[in-house]
Amino acid sequence: MDLKTTYLGLSLAHPFMVGASPLADHLDTVKRLEDGGAAAIALGSLFEEQISMEESARIHHMDPLDPEFAGALAAFPHPNRFLRSPGAYLEHIRRVKEAVRIPVIASLNGVSAEAWSRFARNIAQAGADALELNIYEVALDPRDSGPAIERRIRDLVIDLKHAVTIPVAVKLGPFFTAFGHMAREIEMAGGDGLVIFNRFYQPDIDIATMAPVLHIELSTSAELLLPLRWLSALHGHVRCSLAVTGGVATPADGIKAILAGAHGVQLVSAILRNGPGHFSVMRQGLIDWMESKGFTSIEEVRGRLERQSAPADLDARGSYIRTLQSWTA
Ligand SMILES: Cc1cc2nc3c(=O)[nH]c(=O)nc-3n(C[C@H](O)[C@H](O)[C@H](O)COP(=O)(O)O)c2cc1C
Repeated sequence: MDLKTTYLGLSLAHPFMVGASPLADHLDTVKRLEDGGAAAIALGSLFEEQISMEESARIHHMDPLDPEFAGALAAFPHPNRFLRSPGAYLEHIRRVKEAVRIPVIASLNGVSAEAWSRFARNIAQAGADALELNIYEVALDPRDSGPAIERRIRDLVIDLKHAVTIPVAVKLGPFFTAFGHMAREIEMAGGDGLVIFNRFYQPDIDIATMAPVLHIELSTSAELLLPLRWLSALHGHVRCSLAVTGGVATPADGIKAILAGAHGVQLVSAILRNGPGHFSVMRQGLIDWMESKGFTSIEEVRGRLERQSAPADLDARGSYIRTLQSWTA
C-alpha cells in the first residue's frame, strides 16, 4: 500500500501530520509524535509581535502602568509569557530537526511584512523544511476593503518568497468574499501551499462581568465540513499543495479530506485528546479503507470525490436547494 504524499514539495510517508500548536513545544513530545507515527510536524507559531517588539526592544521599555502604553500592551501576553523569544524559537527549530527525521515546518503568525520577512531567513537557516504563514487577520476596521486586504496578503507572500527558498504554505481563515480567487492570488504570488482553515476564535460574553471571555475549545468532526467543501472546490483549480486543518478526529475524517483533495492532513485537537499514538490509528484506518475499496496508492484517492461528481461551481446552487429540501420534521 503506497501512502506516500508530496506536500509543499516534501515527501511524506503518509498525509497525517501534526498541526501548529504547543504539541511540538517540548523535545520529548516531538519524539513521541514521530514514534506515534506523525508524518511531519508543524511547530507552534512565532508571532510577529514577538519579533517586532524584541527587535525594537520596545516592550522592555514600556511600562504597562504608563497610560501611554497600557492600551497597546493590554491585548498581548506579558513577553515572559510568550513561550519563546525569537532567538529561542530558532534554537528550538535546530533541536527539533536534530531530534527527528520527519519534515519540520516552522510557523510565523503575522499580518505585516515588516519585521519578520527578514526573520523568515533565519528560520530557513535554522533548518526548517518549510514555513507556514499563519495569517490571522480579523478585518474589524470598516474602512479596510476586501481588495486592500487581499493585496496585503498577496504582497506578504511575495515578500516572503523573496526572503526564503524553502516552501511557504499560507494558513488562512475562510472569510473571504471569493476564497477561490484569494487562493489563486496566493499561488500566483509564489505560495507553495494552502492550509485551510484558520479557526476564527470568537470570544464569548460573561454576563456576570459583562466582559468578553477568551477561551479555546478543542474541535469536533463537525468543523471539517467547511474545509471539505473548499478543498473539493479548489482541487484541480490550483496547482499548489492543499492541507486541511480543523475537525480531523477519526480515520474517516482523514479519508474524506483526501477524497476532497488534501495532500496533507493536520491534526491538533485529536492528538491533544488521544495522544501521539492516534497517528497510527489514522494511518491504519486509511490502509483498511483503501484495502476495502481496492486502492493501492493515495494518488488514486486524492480528489476522487470531485472526479465523480459534477463540477463544484455548477452544482453549488443545485445542492443548496436539495439540502434545504432534504429537511424532514
Ligand atoms: C492549544 C492550541 C494552540 C494552537 N496554536 C497555534 C499556533 O501557534 N499557530 C497556528 O497556526 N495554529 C495554532 N492552533 C490551531 C491549530 O493549528 C489548528 O488549526 C486548529 O486547532 C484546528 O485543528 P484541529 O481541529 O485538528 O484542532 C492551535 C490550536 C490549539 C488547540
